[in-house]
Amino acid sequence: MRIPFVSGNWKMNTMVTEAEKLILEMLDGLDRIEGVEKVLCPPFVSLVAVNMMLRDSSIKLGAQNMYFETKGAYTGEVSPLMLSELCEFVILGHSERRWYFGETDEIVNKKVKAALSNKLKPILCVGERLAENEAGKTKEVVNRQVTTALDRVDSVSDLVIAYEPVWAIGTGKAASGEQAAATIQFIRDVLAKLWDKSIAQDLRILYGGSVTSANIAEFISHPEIDGALVGGASLKAEEFVSIVEQTAKIKGRIR
Ligand code: PGA
Repeated sequence: MRIPFVSGNWKMNTMVTEAEKLILEMLDGLDRIEGVEKVLCPPFVSLVAVNMMLRDSSIKLGAQNMYFETKGAYTGEVSPLMLSELCEFVILGHSERRWYFGETDEIVNKKVKAALSNKLKPILCVGERLAENEAGKTKEVVNRQVTTALDRVDSVSDLVIAYEPVWAIGTGKAASGEQAAATIQFIRDVLAKLWDKSIAQDLRILYGGSVTSANIAEFISHPEIDGALVGGASLKAEEFVSIVEQTAKIKGRIR
């Protein structure tokens, strides 16, 4: 049985003081919700402060990126070892990393392996761009991204995958529940081929891209969709708490 999962990705938003304020605004509301794994991914510079604030809560912490080396002369980078002291999760292969910072599938693969060997749980993001979607290449792209990212990965039991069509991220144009569910089912089929059916069945796959409190129900009503990776709407306490609340309610009902 897959535990529903909702993560907020704050991206490059919030000063440390703003991050602390936002945590205070959502902490009680989120903490109370049961039956959903709740994760917040603030910017690197706020991880220490937020880690302390979340310590006695049921909310877990994630980073938004990392380098694949453990330590050394890599000026400006943050390593999985450093993060392992603070976080349980790390977002890897987000489309903004891929398209603004040139992260290839091979780099994402190195990062996935480095995260797992440092006891960090990757939230691996995959998803096609608009032109690829329009050319009918969604499956091809997602298959390549998943297969390469997980090449020579021994175990995927700590992995979460987020299907985030690039055209839906930050655009207000979310995919439909059906579209998302169909691609997520396809990803599960890919995983079943790479490992086996029961491993694929146990792995959580989220939808991400313009998720709000107004459309979350459409996604999580699909049994294939295990939760959401939320960008913009995770910066508003009330919005985010409502998204997690609805997930708990609807998933509780499905099961
Ligand atoms: P969005 O971002 O919710 O603002 O579209 C989602 C994401 O990038 O993870």
